[in-house]
Amino acid sequence: MIPVTLTTHSRLSSLDFDDIPFGKVFSDHMFYAEYNNGTWQKMEIKPLQKLEIHPSNLAWHYGQSIFEGMKATKHIDGSPMLMRPEMHAQRMNASAERMCMPTFPEEMFVEAVSQLVSIESAWIPPAKGSALYLRPIMFAADEFIGVRPSEKYIYIIMALPVGPYYSTPLRLKAEETYIRAADGGTGEAKTAGNYAGSLYPWQKAKDEGYDQIMWLDAKEKKYIQEAGTMNIFCVINDVVITPKTSGSILKGITRDSILKILSAEGYQVEEREITIDDLIAASNDGSLTEIFGSGTAAVVIHVKEVGYQDTTLTLDPDTFKIAPFVKNYIDSLRDGSMEDKFGWTTKLTQSTAV
Ligand SMILES: Cc1ncc(COP(=O)(O)O)c(C=O)c1O
Repeated sequence: MIPVTLTTHSRLSSLDFDDIPFGKVFSDHMFYAEYNNGTWQKMEIKPLQKLEIHPSNLAWHYGQSIFEGMKATKHIDGSPMLMRPEMHAQRMNASAERMCMPTFPEEMFVEAVSQLVSIESAWIPPAKGSALYLRPIMFAADEFIGVRPSEKYIYIIMALPVGPYYSTPLRLKAEETYIRAADGGTGEAKTAGNYAGSLYPWQKAKDEGYDQIMWLDAKEKKYIQEAGTMNIFCVINDVVITPKTSGSILKGITRDSILKILSAEGYQVEEREITIDDLIAASNDGSLTEIFGSGTAAVVIHVKEVGYQDTTLTLDPDTFKIAPFVKNYIDSLRDGSMEDKFGWTTKLTQSTAV
């Protein structure tokens, strides 16, 4: 068991479960650990608090900072639950290795998340599609100016209640000038710099009236990779296609779940390279029926338009079948209303400590 210090000033009563602004409301506690002298230490669950950090903190200068995004939800019987936490533990460690940071024991990650969620279970909004969003982050903590891997690191898991994520269908810009990731780069790691580098092209796309970017490969600028901060799927001739991951695409856990669910449900799925020209051709001959993005926060978001050079490809999200089916499937696994034949979900006990 991880030592726990509980808050004496819970903020829970000030939360309006019907109106939770995304990303701004934090639960009462956080998990905290430090890495020093080659070991993880000072592990604790304690009241969420500010950190005192020296201006030379290595992470701020040279970017050794990684994170995860996952959800705890409420089962229809009221128990808190997690879905595939070990996948997030593994991806966090894959990101850590790429960024030359220490890994964190997988079972300790799952224990920390489980204990934190049990303590914060009253913060999990009950409505379907809503969740307690969990944000693990690890960053370099050496006080040092100079490019080298840090020797000290801080690991935190914070929790944010979030309402159901309603998103209107997206307009994507297939981006030919800027790239998110290149072969041999850090695109497969969930590291801060990848997101920083995407902001400027995203802002430009927004100025042009788009919602998000459809990222193309760095070399030939023709293979589709991701949609904003989501993986991307399209349906052509009833085959569900998603770009195969080969180093520059984030290995989305929702992507993996969607592939497994659709295969089990008898859909034909393919992980393969697909170009923007293939999409346009399929749109022109009527075989392209859906494009959607996938990610933990929204599960699935429909795409209604893709702009590329002087072509605009349009879709009618009202006719989409697979995207809403799979979103409902995952939301139903997450609230226990669908039988979990994959063994992905774990019910936790509700801590009565607070
Ligand atoms: C760049 C990027 N691609 C894809 C995803 C979707 O991954 P997941 O389904 O694990 O949330 C995310 C979100 O984590 C992301 O940041």
